[in-house]
Amino acid sequence: MGKIKIGIIGIGNCASALVQGIEYYRDSNKSGLLRPNLAGYYISDIQVVAAVDVSENKVGKNISEAIKANELDVVVDFHKNFNVLVVMGDILDGVISETEKNIKPANQNPINVAKYFKSTGVEIVLCLLPSGADNAVRFYANEAIKAGCAFINATPTNVATDKEYANKFHDAGLPLIGDDLQDQFGATILHKMILQQMLDLGIDIKESYALDVGGGAESLNTIYRTRETKRKIKSMSVARALNIDAPIVAGTSDWVEFLGNKRNSMLWIVGKGFMGSEIIMDIKIQTEDGPNGGSVLADVIRVTKIAINQSAAGSIDEISAYGFKNPPKSPKTPAEASKNLANFILGIRKEE
Ligand SMILES: NC(=O)c1ccc[n+]([C@@H]2O[C@H](COP(=O)([O-])OP(=O)(O)OC[C@H]3O[C@@H](n4cnc5c(N)ncnc54)[C@H](O)[C@@H]3O)[C@@H](O)[C@H]2O)c1
Repeated sequence: MGKIKIGIIGIGNCASALVQGIEYYRDSNKSGLLRPNLAGYYISDIQVVAAVDVSENKVGKNISEAIKANELDVVVDFHKNFNVLVVMGDILDGVISETEKNIKPANQNPINVAKYFKSTGVEIVLCLLPSGADNAVRFYANEAIKAGCAFINATPTNVATDKEYANKFHDAGLPLIGDDLQDQFGATILHKMILQQMLDLGIDIKESYALDVGGGAESLNTIYRTRETKRKIKSMSVARALNIDAPIVAGTSDWVEFLGNKRNSMLWIVGKGFMGSEIIMDIKIQTEDGPNGGSVLADVIRVTKIAINQSAAGSIDEISAYGFKNPPKSPKTPAEASKNLANFILGIRKEE
């Protein structure tokens, strides 16, 4: 099927998990992947050919070394073909005073990003910038267009959900996917599953929250920049899936440095059953942020390659609805999103 050449913007915890995952699953059938084989593509077909960051701990280093500066542990031994040096990007609003202690910018001039993508043969740009770096995310989206690359936006910044960008990518004949990556299994999914099961069994939901604390750089960013946006996206994502009229709150409440890349989520649910009898649930789940995004990213990258093969352009709603929390269009259920994705892979698309 050929290789899928990607360029990564932001060599943080999520990038670390993806890069390690490519090595970990190379020529093996180890467990933990959502779709080992996706329409003939394997995770090992993903080839990182370009890497951009701004941190002095990462710029100028081989990507397999640069990822060691993150909170997520590096647990794999790298194969020699990960020979990609991290280059200096444009800082813009990627770093703010509150996060400078974690991301100390390198004292270097930025490269010409579009030229760099072209010269390295990037087909897909994967944007893994900190949440809230709206100007930087849009800057790199524009550079992707200039270089003729598809763009996957894992951040909560509105790009795929922004009509202006959807039109720009459409006019350039390039796929655009996003926004805000969905985890493989986390508190939002667990929350939706339990609430849905209770509703199916006739339980009336009275109130519920899912709140989390994390220790990664991303959690620090969230506290200062995107707590409100993330709370809106997560709460909406639960309420929209269930269509219930009860107070539901979902979001991040703090940054606890010693947790590293781990996230502790607390779920609280109050329901009423037969004759109003009360059911109360208090659940805790711990996940690891970077790896939790790895499998979904591997799927989304491979389907984006299929979109390129099919010459699909503009916002590709079938991929966004499958892998993202805030897609331009949301099917009613995850099963419908998976069916639409399967049809897309077969080249069947719904008429607008
Ligand atoms: N499971 C997940 O990890 C998950 C799930 C949903 C969404 N996301 C989103 O993915 C994104 C990445 O998450 P992460 O945990 O890897 O973040 P991170 O903070 O660990 O990494 C961000 C990286 O971007 C770099 N950076 C900052 N400004 C830059 C610029 N202007 N140019 C180039 N690089 C720059 C930083 O130096 C850092 O290496 C976030 O927006 C997050 O909301 C992740």
